[in-house]
Amino acid sequence: MKILAIESSCDETAAAVVEDGRKVLSDIVATQIDKHKLYGGVVPEIASRMHAESIYSVVQAAFEQSGCSPDGIDAVAVTYAPGLIGALLVGISFAKGLAMAAEKPLIPVHHIAGHIAANYLSHPELEPPYLCLVVSGGHSHIVEVLDHTHYHVVGRTHDDAAGECFDKAARTLGYEYPGGKFIDQAAKSGDPSAYRLPHPKVQGCKYDFSFSGLKTAVINLVHNAAQRNEKLCREDVAASFQKTVSDILVEKTMLAADDLGYSTIALAGGVSANSGVREAFSQVCRQKGYKLYMPQLKYCGDNAAMIGCQGYFDYLAGKRADESLNGIATLPLDKISV
Ligand code: KG4
Ligand code: ZN
Repeated sequence: MKILAIESSCDETAAAVVEDGRKVLSDIVATQIDKHKLYGGVVPEIASRMHAESIYSVVQAAFEQSGCSPDGIDAVAVTYAPGLIGALLVGISFAKGLAMAAEKPLIPVHHIAGHIAANYLSHPELEPPYLCLVVSGGHSHIVEVLDHTHYHVVGRTHDDAAGECFDKAARTLGYEYPGGKFIDQAAKSGDPSAYRLPHPKVQGCKYDFSFSGLKTAVINLVHNAAQRNEKLCREDVAASFQKTVSDILVEKTMLAADDLGYSTIALAGGVSANSGVREAFSQVCRQKGYKLYMPQLKYCGDNAAMIGCQGYFDYLAGKRADESLNGIATLPLDKISV
């Protein structure tokens, strides 16, 4: 079964053709980062306009690369939540038009479910149940993946997402948006024990996160040094920050895994591309004899192949949308009702 998938929830316009949920026949991602970085973050209005400009050529390129035509696919999958409403609506409207014209079923896909599914593209042997840490620019969740379409969110952030925290720390250190990958690069030549940064305390659920205190600590560290005319080593701050985030992510995820009885762990989302995070999880899972799955780097960030993969499982579970499908800005993973 071949699915044409469309993703436009934030700042990448993406389309892919995926066969049977695993075989990526094409994978096109047009990023808008160069435009948004001028403003230090994603500007929703610009994102919507840029999606509208590029969606046709991105979908056309996905068809060409796969050797398929609209008649040769079996369904259209599209991200409908969560995300920027104007951005989502561009992908949804295009997907609706395509599905109607080609007389194919339309499958609504949750973006975070797509991030989790990126693991199936890289590891065909992975089967639920397992515990997944989803860490992206907008989300930090610990999720029980019960089966391919059912989830239970057991931990979440009370404030900033992990990626947001990376981007804000990076900005404070003078890197351009989105700075997660620059922190990752800088950390490679820094000393992770150079600075002691706080592990913010979280009230309530013991698997929940809080990153705003850590962000503030980096800002204070950099500003205080500037006021005292002291020179900070950017690489050392980056390495110390990255180590602190990795420690927090590992601590909470492993606590949940042990309490809830999971020995299969997966990572997902943009921050799962971070080499420090990947190494920290690899180490702890090796020590404990747990199985660890991480998406290939190209499937950590936003892409449509992951939506095509999840769309396949959603299709098998009977999920369908009609021409009334709308975008939803905020929709918890365990409250999917479509
Ligand atoms: O999953 P994603 O592409 O988009 C959302 O759904 O939010 O995640 C983007 C986030 C950004 O905050 C970006 O800085 C971060 O992932 N990121 C990284 C790395 N690569 C991307 N953070 C740390 N290290 C990286 N190597
Ligand atoms: Zn994402």
